[in-house]
Amino acid sequence: MSLDLLQLDQIQEARRQIEICNACRYCEGFCSVFPAMTRQKAFADGDITHLANLCHNCRGCYYSCQYTEPHEFALNLPAALAEVRVASWERLIQPQAVARLFHAQGVAMAGLLIALLAGFFWALAALKPDAGDGFYAYLAHNTMVALFVPAFVTPLALIGFGLRSYWREVGAGPLRMAAVWAGLHDAARLKNLSGGQGQGCNFEEGDRYSDRRRIHHQLMMYGFLLCFASTSTATVMHYGLNWPAPYPWWAPPKLLGVPGGVMMTIGAIGLGWLKTKADPALGAARVWGGEMAFILLLGLVASTGLALYLATGTGLVGPLLALHLACVMTLFLLMPFSKMVHGFFRLTALIAEANTKAQTKAAPKA
Ligand code: HEM
Ligand code: SF4
Ligand code: SF4
Repeated sequence: MSLDLLQLDQIQEARRQIEICNACRYCEGFCSVFPAMTRQKAFADGDITHLANLCHNCRGCYYSCQYTEPHEFALNLPAALAEVRVASWERLIQPQAVARLFHAQGVAMAGLLIALLAGFFWALAALKPDAGDGFYAYLAHNTMVALFVPAFVTPLALIGFGLRSYWREVGAGPLRMAAVWAGLHDAARLKNLSGGQGQGCNFEEGDRYSDRRRIHHQLMMYGFLLCFASTSTATVMHYGLNWPAPYPWWAPPKLLGVPGGVMMTIGAIGLGWLKTKADPALGAARVWGGEMAFILLLGLVASTGLALYLATGTGLVGPLLALHLACVMTLFLLMPFSKMVHGFFRLTALIAEANTKAQTKAAPKA
């Protein structure tokens, strides 16, 4: 995938800063970026892309650095890496134009899609199938499956192709299973947002440490995984055990989905609030709106799901179901173009890093 002029400039600026850091090495223990950097003296474009995706934007290196403005080196490594990172997602996932549009007009794009899809689901419900209980009295199970499976699998396939290009671009070599476990372990703890010694990151407090971002992120990530597990369990119960919804409160889909929705809602409020407090100049400022749209979308998915649960048996179920399904489908359709890709790319970068380390260790010494 070729780089355009702006991307070449961004890579060149990140390379300039990385070369200074590689000579200084003061921030060596902060995160995985610095140990990865010190493996080499010259940096190809793929190496810069890899370092950018390893960076968790904790901002620790910016607040510790003696070479930030007004020093003539004008270092701002978190921002330089964030620009390259976002550009790499736009470049590696097709069609790029949709990602650029989402990053520029995220709230409008997500809002329009939600409104159109809610209208569509509302119209479908008006042709009531009367084919089941609970939600299925509004929308038949088979119709839901026929609509949601392609809306989920197609975006995942686009992301999969993008990750394959990433792996090739960064030259991570043949995959080792041990590297997969190591990458999953680091992602599960969000180790690189802990500031190296577990003291927290500098995202919203400037040169003071705080663990708020990591805590709210974990609520969001694990809440999302619980909601995903809830839907998967319900599918197995429907097809495998012939036990269709509605489910009582003690059934696995409810026991997983309700806490998951609460965790996601708290996570979205926290992450959105922290974003308004943090300095946009230490990230990719041009995608601030798109990132906020992503947080709002996740918050909407969770809160409309919880509202639907609370509205069971009332006349609000019809409109809330249309709104909730529209939010979920918008999240799925925009997955390759929104910040949702960060999880896939960061996990792949952590695995690629563990893979390269293992290869370097195994290589015979010259
Ligand atoms: C492999 C797993 C994941 C990793 C390693 C990861 C890592 C990160 C990191 C390092 C950040 C902060 C830096 C940044 O803003 O770019 C972040 C932000 C965020 N993540 Fe994740 N993430 C993962 C999965 C998820 C999942 C599954 C969700 C929810 C569906 C999620 C939702 C968010 C949100 C809402 C933000 C805040 C965005 C912002 O402030 O702009 N993440 N993630
Ligand atoms: S960010 Fe500044 S202090 Fe840290 S390694 Fe780079 S040049 Fe050195
Ligand atoms: S912002 Fe944090 S994660 Fe990124 S390079 Fe600096 S110290 Fe590492």
